[in-house]
Amino acid sequence: MQIENLFNVKDSVIMITGASRGIGKGLALELGLMGAKIVLISRDQNNLLGTAQELETKGITTLAISTDVTDSDQVKSAVDQVVERFGRIDGLINSAGVVGLQPIAEFDEALWDQVMAVNLKGTFLTCKWVGAQMLKQKGGKIINISSVRGLQGRRNDAAYAPSKGAVNLLTKSLAIEWAEDNINVNAIAPTFTLTDINRDLLANEEASNWVLSRIPKKRLGQIEDLVGSVIFLLSPASDFVTGHILYVDGGWTAA
Ligand SMILES: NC(=O)c1ccc[n+]([C@@H]2O[C@H](COP(=O)([O-])OP(=O)(O)OC[C@H]3O[C@@H](n4cnc5c(N)ncnc54)[C@H](OP(=O)(O)O)[C@@H]3O)[C@@H](O)[C@H]2O)c1
Repeated sequence: MQIENLFNVKDSVIMITGASRGIGKGLALELGLMGAKIVLISRDQNNLLGTAQELETKGITTLAISTDVTDSDQVKSAVDQVVERFGRIDGLINSAGVVGLQPIAEFDEALWDQVMAVNLKGTFLTCKWVGAQMLKQKGGKIINISSVRGLQGRRNDAAYAPSKGAVNLLTKSLAIEWAEDNINVNAIAPTFTLTDINRDLLANEEASNWVLSRIPKKRLGQIEDLVGSVIFLLSPASDFVTGHILYVDGGWTAA
């Protein structure tokens, strides 16, 4: 196969959750510029439509569907709308996520439920409903955005790290179950990348210095660092890669 076909995502229909901001938005833009049709999913309608408009002005075909990924009916309805518009879903990127850190003996249970609901249940629900469509069309590629936290615990982290550890195992279970159905399920695990999710934390000099001291590359991740891995995992180049957790972390987990 020629190199441009190996990494081709042109005309693929890619559904991205958490697409209004941060990593999801950055990936939406880059994949759109490579010719993919982008389905944008997140809750806040204004943010979502603003992002869709930004992409459309760059010539990217978009469909924005305001959806809470923790709500099964909403996720199913979003999948139905995508199929009605485009006829299929070639790729799913689960980037919707939230974080919550508190001393564990005082950890607020509602916060724990929310982190688990968005990061784990939301990933499960989108995989379930998009996977059902991919089973019908006999193929697809799914990428769950995990984290280095899926491998390592930390203080004050009763929910986020456990949610990402569970996402890693969900990724593997799905990969095994759907391997013969031509559906590949992988995860990408970034390290600290400056977005709204950690802006406050990284504004603290002590925390920021600690983060940089842990990254052998001596810089934060950037959304651009994730693009090559995402294209690989969405394209024919990765047809025999499934159930893999790809650390894009500047060496964090090697140390
Ligand atoms: N940034 C990092 O350093 C880093 C490192 C490792 C892993 N990650 C992972 O990367 C993913 C993206 O993070 P980010 O940094 O891009 O965060 P972000 O900038 O805070 O964006 C989070 C996105 O998720 C959406 N979202 C939150 N709850 C949702 C829900 N219930 N239903 C649908 N959408 C929802 C948000 O939109 P609405 O609020 O409008 O719904 C927003 O679009 C997360 O899974 C995160 O854990 C991030």
